[in-house]
Amino acid sequence: MTTTELEGLVHAILTCVTAGPGLGFNRAVLFLPSERGDELVATMAIGPATVEEARETWTRLATERPSLGELLRRTDWRRRSGLSALVEGLTIPLAPARDAAAERTTNPLAEAYRAGQVRKLADAHTLDELPARFREAFAGTEVVCVPLPAKERAIGLLVADNAFNREPITEERIQLLELLARLAGLALDNARMYQQVQAQAEALQRALDELERTHERLLHNERLATVGAVIARVGHEIRNPLTTIGGFARTLGARPSDMERVARGAGIIVDEVEKLEVLLKEMLDFTSPHPPSLRPTDLNQVVASFAEVHRDGLTPHRVRLVLDLAPRLPEIHADARQLQRACLNLWRNAVQAMEEGPVDRERTLTIRTTRGDDDVCLVVEDSGPGIPEDVATRMFTPFFTTKHHGTGLGLAVVRKIVDDHGGAIEVRNGQRGGAAFRITLPIRRSAP
Ligand SMILES: Nc1ncnc2c1ncn2[C@@H]1O[C@H](COP(=O)(O)OP(=O)(O)O)[C@@H](O)[C@H]1O
Ligand SMILES: [Mg+2]
Repeated sequence: MTTTELEGLVHAILTCVTAGPGLGFNRAVLFLPSERGDELVATMAIGPATVEEARETWTRLATERPSLGELLRRTDWRRRSGLSALVEGLTIPLAPARDAAAERTTNPLAEAYRAGQVRKLADAHTLDELPARFREAFAGTEVVCVPLPAKERAIGLLVADNAFNREPITEERIQLLELLARLAGLALDNARMYQQVQAQAEALQRALDELERTHERLLHNERLATVGAVIARVGHEIRNPLTTIGGFARTLGARPSDMERVARGAGIIVDEVEKLEVLLKEMLDFTSPHPPSLRPTDLNQVVASFAEVHRDGLTPHRVRLVLDLAPRLPEIHADARQLQRACLNLWRNAVQAMEEGPVDRERTLTIRTTRGDDDVCLVVEDSGPGIPEDVATRMFTPFFTTKHHGTGLGLAVVRKIVDDHGGAIEVRNGQRGGAAFRITLPIRRSAP
């Protein structure tokens, strides 16, 4: 409900009070409490200001004979009546509640409003406590004041009189006016509440919009920051091998006949180029636009053929491989090559981690598969030093590494592959203190 709609409602209330087919009072004013609640404000008034205006209006209405419905539907109410000019905007102070007797002598309108009781004033002009404008507008006429009750307390005050036809205000009229005031109070209260809810909804919407804008800004900044970090990292990773390669290449050029020197230099150059190749491969894996091509796959078979290919690579590191594969695993939907890629990254990390540990410690790499109700699991566990807590929370972040020559992309790639398979990965420290990575992949459900 908009303010105009609220005004329309107020107008409808006053029309019912003043219309001939309604309660037929000559004039009526609706007072509503100010926002701070310290005064009543004459919000709208209906009725003539002078005898001439009254005569003119009543003659017109007598020929038109509009029904109450027609009067309510009229939209010309924004053209203020004579009484509006006299009283609209007028305020009646609502003095802080004092003792009731004192209040009664100070301000009958405030008292009627606060006590929620009807008051009849014989002649407002004689009441010095009321503002001069009010006393003039209602001079020499009997006035009735009826509060608009709402759930807890009055939410407005209707003031009406018969200034022009001088009809006495009977008890029966007052009762009808009270009845109308009750309905009007409810309607206004509902309208207010609706307006409040609407305002709250709008405030919420604004807050939400602001939040979205902030979020977008943050995301944008975050993306820039990530791009910046990537460039810095890649630059750093490439510079070292390039410097080494450049240095050795120059010494080769300087003394090409020293075969021993050439061989040593060439070996170093090849090593450095390999590092660059690994970096490049990992970066391409990470940014690879290819989604996995998922096929019915037996996880055990993936693990077995992976181990077959890489087993010999463990010998120089003195690492024992333990394969512990659950029999008859259900099939999953997977891209076998990508899963092997993930295995390789975990495998490399495991070997590097165990390399750091004491030499005499037994080095075991365990690859295990197990089956759950809805998924199958692949666990890669090593007997290395395990993972400190502060590393565990960051290790899957791209470019996070604790190694001198690490790229920090290995686990990020693993995680991406697992995500692309609809699976999950978690890491714990195993029973013997090493790291245990556990990948869970959903079982393939045959099409219904
Ligand atoms: N098996 C493991 N044991 C202990 N720490 C590990 C293990 N695997 C990974 N990490 C930690 O996680 C970090 C990130 O690993 P990764 O993403 O593969 O990058 P990188 O191997 O290039 O450092 C490593 O630097 C290391 O600190
Ligand atoms: Mg790694």
